[in-house]
Amino acid sequence: MLVKVSPSLLSADFGRLAEETKAVEAAGADSVHVDVMDGRFVPNITIGPLVVKAIRKSTKLPLGVHLMIEEPEKYVPQFAEAGADTIYVHVEACVHLHRNLQQIRALNKRVGVALNPHTPVESIRWILRDVDAVLVMTVNPGFGGQAFIPQSVQKLKELRDEVDRQHLNVVIGVDGGIDAKTAPMVVGAGASELIAGAAVFGRPDYAEAIASIRKAGEAVRI
Ligand code: DX5
Ligand code: ZN
Repeated sequence: MLVKVSPSLLSADFGRLAEETKAVEAAGADSVHVDVMDGRFVPNITIGPLVVKAIRKSTKLPLGVHLMIEEPEKYVPQFAEAGADTIYVHVEACVHLHRNLQQIRALNKRVGVALNPHTPVESIRWILRDVDAVLVMTVNPGFGGQAFIPQSVQKLKELRDEVDRQHLNVVIGVDGGIDAKTAPMVVGAGASELIAGAAVFGRPDYAEAIASIRKAGEAVRI
């Protein structure tokens, strides 16, 4: 099973974002994960479209922009314009989720949907065919460096089954508490894109960190 590793810039040195982004590209990252927080949907505030635009200039890697914001439809066009490749909106933040996904599609971006830990797979059953990627939150969004929530493994299996049942090509990503220890569990349950913040930026050698997460995931036989 091929596994993609996407470092989350949330744990990078924000004073040196361009350098940090270049460093993970050189270290073998498959894409870069950017966490956008509004202080309302989650209890933290991070960055906006201007900073995404700056990050875009520092790497050729695809940018996954994870919108942890209310009323994401108001800002999706700005993040698209800023250079996002995949835009994730949260199920819990969208009253008209299908419409919000269509908005991302119309902007020619990869369409992503994210689920909080308590949100069931059932909540995306009827929109699954309209997305390119699902992000299963394996911590409560808002902060880096939190502990992996173990019941996420069963949820991932349910999602994998549903994706297969509908014969879809949807990428299943996981976000939160992912490291070389948790990678085998989530890959075994059906995830193929691993977002990791602290487990990459909290280590002295980014290449070694990324390789060890990838290796731990790819060692799983499915
Ligand atoms: C959580 C963010 C994650 C976070 C992951 O709110 O969406 O992307 O940065 O960080 P780690 O890997 O440190 O749990
Ligand atoms: Zn994230």
